[in-house]
Amino acid sequence: MTSPAAPWWTSAVVYQVYPRSFADSNGDGIGDLRGVAGKLDHLELLGVDVIWLSPVYPSPQDDAGYDISDYRGIDPVFGTLEDFDALLVDVHARGMKLVMDLVVNHTSDEHPWFVESRSSRDNPKRDWYWWRPARPHMEPGAPGAEPTNWGSAFSGPAWDLDQATGEYYLHLFSRKQPDLNWENPEVRAAIHAMMRWWLDRGVDGFRMDVINFISKDVRADGSLPDGVVRAGARYGDGHPHFSCGPRIHEYLQEMNREVFAGRRERPLTVGEMPGVTVDQAVLFTDPARAEVDMVFQFEHVGLDHGASKWDVHPLRLTDLKASLGRWQAGLADVGWNSLYWDNHDQPRIVSRFGDDGEHRVRSATMLATVLHLHRGTPYVYQGEELGMTNAHFERIDDYRDIESLNHYAEALTHGLADPGALLAGLRASSRDNARTPVQWDGTEYAGFSTVEPWIAVNPNHLEINAAVQHDDPGSVFHFYRRLIALRHTEPAVALGTFTMLLADDAAVYAFRRRLGETRLLVLGNFTATEQTVALDDADAWAGAELVLGNYPEVVGFDAPLRPWESRVFRRG
Ligand code: GLC
Ligand code: CA
Repeated sequence: MTSPAAPWWTSAVVYQVYPRSFADSNGDGIGDLRGVAGKLDHLELLGVDVIWLSPVYPSPQDDAGYDISDYRGIDPVFGTLEDFDALLVDVHARGMKLVMDLVVNHTSDEHPWFVESRSSRDNPKRDWYWWRPARPHMEPGAPGAEPTNWGSAFSGPAWDLDQATGEYYLHLFSRKQPDLNWENPEVRAAIHAMMRWWLDRGVDGFRMDVINFISKDVRADGSLPDGVVRAGARYGDGHPHFSCGPRIHEYLQEMNREVFAGRRERPLTVGEMPGVTVDQAVLFTDPARAEVDMVFQFEHVGLDHGASKWDVHPLRLTDLKASLGRWQAGLADVGWNSLYWDNHDQPRIVSRFGDDGEHRVRSATMLATVLHLHRGTPYVYQGEELGMTNAHFERIDDYRDIESLNHYAEALTHGLADPGALLAGLRASSRDNARTPVQWDGTEYAGFSTVEPWIAVNPNHLEINAAVQHDDPGSVFHFYRRLIALRHTEPAVALGTFTMLLADDAAVYAFRRRLGETRLLVLGNFTATEQTVALDDADAWAGAELVLGNYPEVVGFDAPLRPWESRVFRRG
């Protein structure tokens, strides 16, 4: 129950399915749409409201489907459009919604648009991508002749020379992911038409991949600026010139008018926005501006990074509180937060901010409690509800992810690190940590497939799996069920105001929520030792109801928090 003015997604929980790794229905070792359909009972039992499906479109799979060669189809690896339609019917029949991944900053280089675009300098689609000549007075292909000095997200320069036409094209990600030129109105119209096509088919919204990169800071003469080269870096940082660029708000507002306006039920839109600030997020998510409903920001998942994501140091809890607290405050009156720990690009939270050994169950459930009790829409990434851990791969051959493999190869080539240090970085931060198959049971391939999967199953599936947890009321899975149910039944979880407490405490995360007379108090112990909590208003909480705790034995309000304990109290 939410107030009439609150949109439906304020009390919703979204579950991300990464199809390659979810469930394989036809024994080829790769997850697929029928595999997803076969596991809807699990999702219904969990109680989630929305499924976000990572890309299932036709793709050469250079970046695991984030390189799309046809926006209006399904890759045969994942099934057919009929499979998709059947899945959608089933999802809707169970009262859930389905949100598609929308990857429109770039296409695959095998998309017909790019194939045409690269075919000649005067092709009508030439201007659909970012083609630029070599730097003035330099030979195409000469070292440093790229039109700008930007590095790509997946190592190497952000430009590739096309020998046939002698010009470079921009790719912020892999060389098989050329960036679309959103300056061109034909590109925008083609994307809007494609989005309407999916909505007409029945999908309930879009998760928009790196959507804050679509507007580039192009100068009047058509050139793009160089980025600053930081100490030790091989390339310039292009972000200031393509992140939240000059026309980003215009493009999103236009998309709303062209695609979403007048739809019977408002689709859900969430924009993935690396580097977005609180102030920018207020603009993006202000309902009056009609851009997106919420953004995925990256601040809290960068707090344990050093000079790069591969250089990891322990999280300081006070940093996490300062960051998330700032986002809560910044979007309190206008806009809305998304809440996430995990997705297909992030290491597993229980291995990252928790303890994936002795205290796995307790730390996974504490982390879930703290996240889901913030104000915003929570996202659960497949396997998170089981407390799945990082892959802990030992050898480079175990990895599949282009970002990880390119980083390893580039660093070795340039003598930037030794293999041992590189592997340690991958073990902590590789995206493959989140991409190992979902652990459905304790059989050889974890019930994911009948054959060896495309990426190794974590050996800990013998203990950590859905079959065991479905039967165990004390499991991470059943805890997530209660947590999700709490958002559905307690309006203060969805809509209450947020007040951070004990901001300087390095061990305990504490905050209050309030809606009318209802007050919630949330406590989470981020350590394996007992912690005493000293609240100013402790007396007022003495008789409060414990609505959710992650220890079966209930103790008094004043009792210290046990290792990785979480408690949610309610009064009023
Ligand atoms: C987003 C996706 C990531 C992908 C990148 C390029 O960050 O989440 O998986 O590699 O965009 O599409
Ligand atoms: Ca399959």
